[in-house]
Amino acid sequence: MADNYLENRYDELFGSGRKKTVVKHVGQSLDTLLKKNRSYRGYDKNTKVNMEQLKKIVAVNPLLPSGRNQQALRFKLVTHDTGAEKVLANIKLGGALPELHLPFEGTEPEAFIIICGITPENKILDIDLGISAQSMLLKAVEMGLNGIMIGAFNKENIKQEFNLPYEPLLILAIGKGAENIRLVEINEEESHKYYRQDGVHFVPKVKLEQLIL
Ligand SMILES: Cc1cc2nc3c(=O)[nH]c(=O)nc-3n(C[C@H](O)[C@H](O)[C@H](O)COP(=O)(O)O)c2cc1C
Repeated sequence: MADNYLENRYDELFGSGRKKTVVKHVGQSLDTLLKKNRSYRGYDKNTKVNMEQLKKIVAVNPLLPSGRNQQALRFKLVTHDTGAEKVLANIKLGGALPELHLPFEGTEPEAFIIICGITPENKILDIDLGISAQSMLLKAVEMGLNGIMIGAFNKENIKQEFNLPYEPLLILAIGKGAENIRLVEINEEESHKYYRQDGVHFVPKVKLEQLIL
C-alpha cells in the first residue's frame, strides 16, 4: 500500500481539517495473555503476593457478564500471612502426575482466592464461575503474575478453616510461576494428559481445525 494512502483516503472522505482518531495498541494483546496464562504448579517464593494485588485481581468481577445478572460469587482472599498454609494442606495439584507429588518443596503457592457461591450450585452459577476464574487469571498475567484453578480441594475443611458462610466452589492459586510450560498441538484422538520431560511441562491442545464443527 502506498505511503499515506490511508491518511489521504481519510482526508478525501472526511476532509483534512477533521480530528483523526488514532487507535494505538497498548498493553499485551489478548492472545499474548492467553498464551502466558498456563496452569502453574510451582512458584517463586521470593515473589510475595499481597492483599492489594489479590484485590486488584478480584476487581475484574464487577466488569463481567453474569447469568440473570445474579452475581452470586464471593471471594475470600488468602496471603502468606493470613492462612496460605491452611489452603495448601487441603488442595491437590497435578493429579495426572501423582508420582511427582506437586508442588515441589520450596515452590508452593502462597496466595489464594477462594471462590464461593451464595446460591446452590447450578449451571448458571458454574458458567459464571468459569468466566470469573479465567478473567481473574488473565488479570494476574497482565500484572506479571500467574496462577492455576484448583477444583480438587477438601471443601469441608476449607469452609471450616476460614469460617466461610458460603460453599467454596473453586480455588485460584496466585504467584510468580516458576515452571517451563509449553503447549503442544495434538490430534483429538491423542492423549490429552499433560506430561513432563527434561524439566519441561507439556500441555497437549487439540488443533483448531478439529474444534470447529
Ligand atoms: C475447572 C478447573 C479445575 C482444575 N482443577 C485443578 C486441580 O485441582 N489441580 C490441578 O493441578 N490442576 C487443575 N486444573 C488445571 C488443569 O489441569 C489445566 O488447566 C490443564 O492441565 C491444561 O493446562 P493449561 O491450563 O496450562 O492449559 C483445573 C483447571 C480447571 C479449568
